[in-house]
Amino acid sequence: MKRVIFTAGILILMLSANVSFAQTKTTKKTTTHKTVVKKTTTKATAAKKPSAADLEAGKGLLAKSDCLSCHKVDMKIVGPAYIDVAKKYPANEANYELLTKKVIAGGSGNWGTTAMAAHPTLAAADVKKMVEYILSLK
Ligand code: HEC
Repeated sequence: MKRVIFTAGILILMLSANVSFAQTKTTKKTTTHKTVVKKTTTKATAAKKPSAADLEAGKGLLAKSDCLSCHKVDMKIVGPAYIDVAKKYPANEANYELLTKKVIAGGSGNWGTTAMAAHPTLAAADVKKMVEYILSLK
C-alpha cells in the first residue's frame, strides 16, 4: 500500500513538473509574440513616412509660396539653407508639427535674430508637406 502511495506521489510530482514546463513554454511564446508585435509597430511608423509624391507636392507648394525669396536649398540667404534645417531636425512627426507651427507663426531665435515672416493664410496641411520636403533634404 505504501508503495502505491509513493508511486502515485512520484507520478503527481512528474505531472506538475510537466505542467510548469509547459507554462514556461507558453510564456516564452508570448514574449516572442510581443517582440513581433513591436517590430510590426515600428514598420507601421516607418510606412507613415512621406511618399515621393508627398515630397514632390511639398516642393511645388514651397515654390509657389514666398519661401524661396528668403531660403535656398544649399545656401543661407535671409533664412537658413534648407539642408541645414534638415541637418538640425531629424525627419519625424514631432518635428513636422513643430516646424509647421513655426512657419505659420513666423518668428526668430533658432538661427539668429532675423525673423521669418508669418504665414497665417497657408493651410497647415500644405505647410506640413513643405516641411516634410525640407527635412528630406540632406
Ligand atoms: C522673410 C523671409 C522668410 C520667408 C518669406 C520665409 N522664411 Fe523661413 N525662415 C526665415 C528666417 C530668418 C528663419 C530663421 C528663424 C529663426 O531663427 O528662428 C527661417 C526659418 C525657417 C525654418 C526653420 C525654423 C526653426 O525654428 O528652426 C523653416 C522650416 C522655414 N523657415 C521654412 C519656411 C517656409 C516653408 C517658408 C514659406 C512658406 C518660409 N520659411 C518663408 C526667413 C523666411
